[in-house]
Amino acid sequence: MLLSELPTPAVVIEKSRLEANLRSMQDLADAQGVALRPHTKTHKSVFIASRQRELGAKGLTVAKLGEAETFAAAGFTDIRLAYALYGAEKYARLARLLPTCRVSFCVDTPEGALAASEFFAAEGEPVDVMIETDIGYHRCGVRWDRPESAAFALWVDSLPGLRVCGILTHAGHSYYGPQSEGETLADSLKRVSNLERDRMLEFAVSLRTAGVKAAVSGDLEISVGSTPSIRYLTNREHEGFKITEIRPGNYVFHDMTQVNLGVRGLESCALTVHATVFSKHKNEDGSERLFIDSGKKVLTSDGAFRAEGYGQILYDAGNMVPMPHAVINALSEEHGWVLVRGGSTLNVGDQVRVVPNHACVVVNMQPHMFLVDGDEVLQTILVDTQGRVV
Ligand SMILES: Cc1ncc(COP(=O)(O)O)c(C=O)c1O
Repeated sequence: MLLSELPTPAVVIEKSRLEANLRSMQDLADAQGVALRPHTKTHKSVFIASRQRELGAKGLTVAKLGEAETFAAAGFTDIRLAYALYGAEKYARLARLLPTCRVSFCVDTPEGALAASEFFAAEGEPVDVMIETDIGYHRCGVRWDRPESAAFALWVDSLPGLRVCGILTHAGHSYYGPQSEGETLADSLKRVSNLERDRMLEFAVSLRTAGVKAAVSGDLEISVGSTPSIRYLTNREHEGFKITEIRPGNYVFHDMTQVNLGVRGLESCALTVHATVFSKHKNEDGSERLFIDSGKKVLTSDGAFRAEGYGQILYDAGNMVPMPHAVINALSEEHGWVLVRGGSTLNVGDQVRVVPNHACVVVNMQPHMFLVDGDEVLQTILVDTQGRVV
């Protein structure tokens, strides 16, 4: 089947770009001496996770228990839930996975730790938990630099049913870009990457001083993540500790957010939305209003760092050349509003390709994606964990 024969809208993955992205992250992990535990929230697919494993990924990261269940059922045996799981019903579901799959999850509050301990103490074997750590993003996690954080980790380690196996952080502020006059995009990514590494290593030392068993024995897992910050990771030893694993997710596809942050260029964007122009009108100022069949429910309303509009329309998708003067400047649920200054050569019935602002959310809206090699559709890729938010 040819790409032009696919009903639109369709989420299309260019095989060669996907493969290059998967390989280059595995190479980076190998070069830095860290395990790659990719976050599956981006592709949500057993097919792509299997390819990551073939290339050397040591395990998977998920956000939700439902995702862990899907990947465990597909034969994955080591899954990190990078989330502070809470609730007896959830612990019971997680416990059902443990005979065939190591599943660890995050703890960052006394309430969460006590609830998990109460459940898993009755289960026999202790379950592995990671102390979620805040190194500056201020989402979840205990502060890396507070004495009470190391004391918290030691207390969690002492609770029946729990074993602290590591510390985990997400440097989501790597998406904020330059923060001071004169700071370049690359500088901002390096700054967050170095902070993430140094603060986690510092926290590991404080856990050892406090007496957390895995830190004392040297087995503490130190997990960092985010596609922008990993780009500049340089692992180093600090008082016997090194970063042990990385959890990037978005790198499999990249998107306009990564392009605008300077993480990668358009040529590394493996995912595009294939859409059709279905209406066209003139504005009074001479510009044109085109409508593509991809609105909020396909492109999502996510903006992107320094983005003009809701995705980049390509003029030449084969070479990833952007279309000049065309901006998706608004979205309704089913309509992508494209403003073309000076008019365009596009007509009703023409097909376009769009690099979305945020690929992960685009994938979550779809039951499947299409793997292509240029104009040829190779196969359907199921989005196995679509909607598995519980
Ligand atoms: C906890 C956690 N780990 C890893 C990631 C992966 O980040 P990215 O998609 O930037 O690679 C995310 C992204 O949201 C996350 O929340």
